[in-house]
Amino acid sequence: MSLKDEIANHLITLLNGDKHILSIGSGIGYIEKQLYNHNNNFKIVAIEPGDCNNKWAGDKINLLNGFFPSALSGLYSNKDFDFVYASGIDYVFDDESYITFLSSLIEFGINDFLLTEIFVPSNRIKVLIKDYLKRTLSLIHVYNMGQFWGYLRTIDEHLQLLKIAGFTHFKIDRYKHGAYWIRARI
Ligand SMILES: C[S@@+](CC[C@H](N)C(=O)[O-])C[C@H]1O[C@@H](n2cnc3c(N)ncnc32)[C@H](O)[C@@H]1O
Repeated sequence: MSLKDEIANHLITLLNGDKHILSIGSGIGYIEKQLYNHNNNFKIVAIEPGDCNNKWAGDKINLLNGFFPSALSGLYSNKDFDFVYASGIDYVFDDESYITFLSSLIEFGINDFLLTEIFVPSNRIKVLIKDYLKRTLSLIHVYNMGQFWGYLRTIDEHLQLLKIAGFTHFKIDRYKHGAYWIRARI
């Protein structure tokens, strides 16, 4: 089973009768399609700032192009959703924009949020030494670190930023594939 399917199955276990679902940063909508396939009574709204290609989402999912919360403006309020999640989007934010994003959830009235597919930095000694050497060599222009692809944070760093944004209660676990999830509540 792929990580995305593991995440979709996890969401299904959390959706105790909840039908109105908001996904933030849905990408091509693979997870959302799996949710809909599981229960076609689910009403799924997905926000995606990138090119909105409905390849996976089809016409059963309301895919909105834009950012949270502006993409919902005039269309939906917090009361329209029972369950809100974001999968694999934390890496796009630096700390400041991450806090802004998390705070905007609370301002919108979302007090229960699942942040999933979180990858954490490896603490294996070989990986750390390799990373240190690459950074040192890149400083003296002997090695090209390549393109910066995003931010990795430890779970403690996520919790710290979630707390600054205003979340107070947390449940954390890890998928078999190694990624983590955090359910943050107020
Ligand atoms: C790794 S993909 C994850 C897609 C999907 N959620 C999944 O799990 O398959 C990250 C997604 O975050 C989206 N993204 C980028 N900036 C964002 C932002 N500020 N708010 C929400 N989503 C964002 C990207 O366009 C991209 O589709």
